[in-house]
Amino acid sequence: MFDANRYDGRMPYRRCGDSGLFLPAISLGFWHNFGRVDDFQEARRIMRRAFDRGITHFDLANNYGPPPGSAEENVGRILAEDFACHRDELVISTKAGHEMWHGPYGEWGSRKHLLSSLDQSLRRLKLPYVDIFYSHRPDPETRLEETMSALATAVHSGKALYVGISKYPLKRLKKAVKLLKDMGIRCLIYQPPYSILNRWPEAEGILDWLLEEGIGCVVFSPLAQGMLTPKYLDGIPSGSRAARPEGFLKIEQVEAQQEKIRSLGALAAARGMPLHHLALQWALRLPSVTSAIIGARNVAQLDDCLGALKAGTPDEALLAAIDAISPIQRTGRETNA
Ligand SMILES: NC(=O)c1ccc[n+]([C@@H]2O[C@H](COP(=O)([O-])OP(=O)(O)OC[C@H]3O[C@@H](n4cnc5c(N)ncnc54)[C@H](OP(=O)(O)O)[C@@H]3O)[C@@H](O)[C@H]2O)c1
Repeated sequence: MFDANRYDGRMPYRRCGDSGLFLPAISLGFWHNFGRVDDFQEARRIMRRAFDRGITHFDLANNYGPPPGSAEENVGRILAEDFACHRDELVISTKAGHEMWHGPYGEWGSRKHLLSSLDQSLRRLKLPYVDIFYSHRPDPETRLEETMSALATAVHSGKALYVGISKYPLKRLKKAVKLLKDMGIRCLIYQPPYSILNRWPEAEGILDWLLEEGIGCVVFSPLAQGMLTPKYLDGIPSGSRAARPEGFLKIEQVEAQQEKIRSLGALAAARGMPLHHLALQWALRLPSVTSAIIGARNVAQLDDCLGALKAGTPDEALLAAIDAISPIQRTGRETNA
């Protein structure tokens, strides 16, 4: 019988909401570090190492790169060359909704965009289906019925096993989930940004609602794009995401958070652990959170992050100290970091 906590003795697996699907507590994402600008051989080593260490869930989107699409191309090559006999041991996710190609069909929530994009993703990934297909962001102009019908078609056509929704605010999420249900499709999973520095899903009440509904939740950027590691404690190191021109993390964002980062670093040090281990255990502490998707620039970072699985769940005193430094605040909008 499958024991979710002891499958391979290293990686805990958690049930995704009340579905039949288990996901690893830590998943790996390819937003950065897997594009054509990156070192392909290192990307391959990261992916192989991740799988060897029990990471069975790889998260993509049509536009990951740069250039857009190149992360799926690289992953498609690695899947074909190294993982061909492991397909049934993997959960591969992709998304559509952010700008992918020029013109009126290259982004947002139309059926035209979502279903064309899914076909393109499958070609790049060299796969007949993905496990999870997401609507990547809410589209304020398109009727939700249209976007959700595209997700339903993805499942009915066999091109996706499950569907998910990313970054929708609670009211729109509830409506989307209901529409999908009316079409006979369950929303498997929701994907928000969530870290000690970005508590938007808590502020919105989304995490509690997901738990009530039995919908899984995979949180992205649990390290706040690297801000919740020791690397930015003393400035901006060269080669870091904030220093790279193609990186989505801006130096101003790091500077704005520096005081909190230093306080959190001191808190972690007082407990004898690195800041990123604290950040990952914090993100995984709630029963509503199925998995945290990290990014890694090299194998050493990946291994270092997986070391967090040995750290315990933060106790009440530690949680209170974190709350004092970075309380839940209603920002009115999500951000990636
Ligand atoms: N649904 C969405 O809209 C959405 C949006 C964003 C992300 N995502 C998903 O979430 C995934 C993860 O996002 P993320 O990359 O922002 O996650 P993250 O884990 O918060 O940040 C990853 C970055 O932190 C740094 N890092 C990681 N481990 C480290 C270590 N041990 N020591 C020092 N630095 C370390 C590296 O940056 P350096 O390069 O600076 O070393 C790494 O690239 C993405 O790949 C994507 O799959 C989804």
